[in-house]
Amino acid sequence: MRMRKKKNCSARMEQCADIWIKEPEKLKGRWAECFGNGNNIHIEIGCGKGDFVVGMAKLNPDVNFIAIEKVEDVIVMAMEKAKEAELTNVLFTDMDAEKIEDIFERGEIRRIYLNFSDPWKKKKQAKRRLTHKRFLDRYKAVLLQGDYIYFKTDNKALFDFSLNSFAEENFKMSNISLDLHNSDFEGNVMTEYEKRFSGMGMPIYRLEATYLGWEDNREENTK
Ligand SMILES: C[S@@+](CC[C@H](N)C(=O)[O-])C[C@H]1O[C@@H](n2cnc3c(N)ncnc32)[C@H](O)[C@@H]1O
Repeated sequence: MRMRKKKNCSARMEQCADIWIKEPEKLKGRWAECFGNGNNIHIEIGCGKGDFVVGMAKLNPDVNFIAIEKVEDVIVMAMEKAKEAELTNVLFTDMDAEKIEDIFERGEIRRIYLNFSDPWKKKKQAKRRLTHKRFLDRYKAVLLQGDYIYFKTDNKALFDFSLNSFAEENFKMSNISLDLHNSDFEGNVMTEYEKRFSGMGMPIYRLEATYLGWEDNREENTK
């Protein structure tokens, strides 16, 4: 079901026109032109209200960020935060991550962040999880060998599912943490959900998944 937009949402989106990419497919292969430099591009899928991507863009002025979010009422808040911070290294596009191959050439983006993705708890909903094979195949079509997906969540079941999904789809995992906030990881930028769930005392799970390459060298072991 599509959520009805809040009053004024369209007008607020237009106020952010300089950082809002309305037709991202037209930029396929040409995103560097938008940023006016050749810095690496990292994307966040499901950026929510934007605390993470805005925080990362502030901390990393030599990286370009693109935040993808399918709900307009939410992405508008993220864009307003970026404008307030006067950032020049972050752009936003309201779309479904399913279409990622339509908007990026392979190698055009070098890292994907997935933060607190919707868990879709029921087994029959598994295909909607952003770490399901259906999505990993799409990410693989735009990443190069050695590129990373950084994933964090409060949801243990989604984390377990994702560990298996990444392993089955030719990703190698490293820096796995079962309690990020009590680990020695430095430089963590918190998302809105992360603040909420860690504030309730819940552990945060995190991993880094490196794509091992286009040539899928898995072998079926049926024994
Ligand atoms: C649980 S919220 C987490 C928001 C934020 N990342 C955080 O950690 O606070 C998940 C967000 O992902 C967005 N989302 C879910 N599936 C998506 C998809 N296929 N494409 C784009 N955005 C998606 C939702 O609209 C929602 O805003």
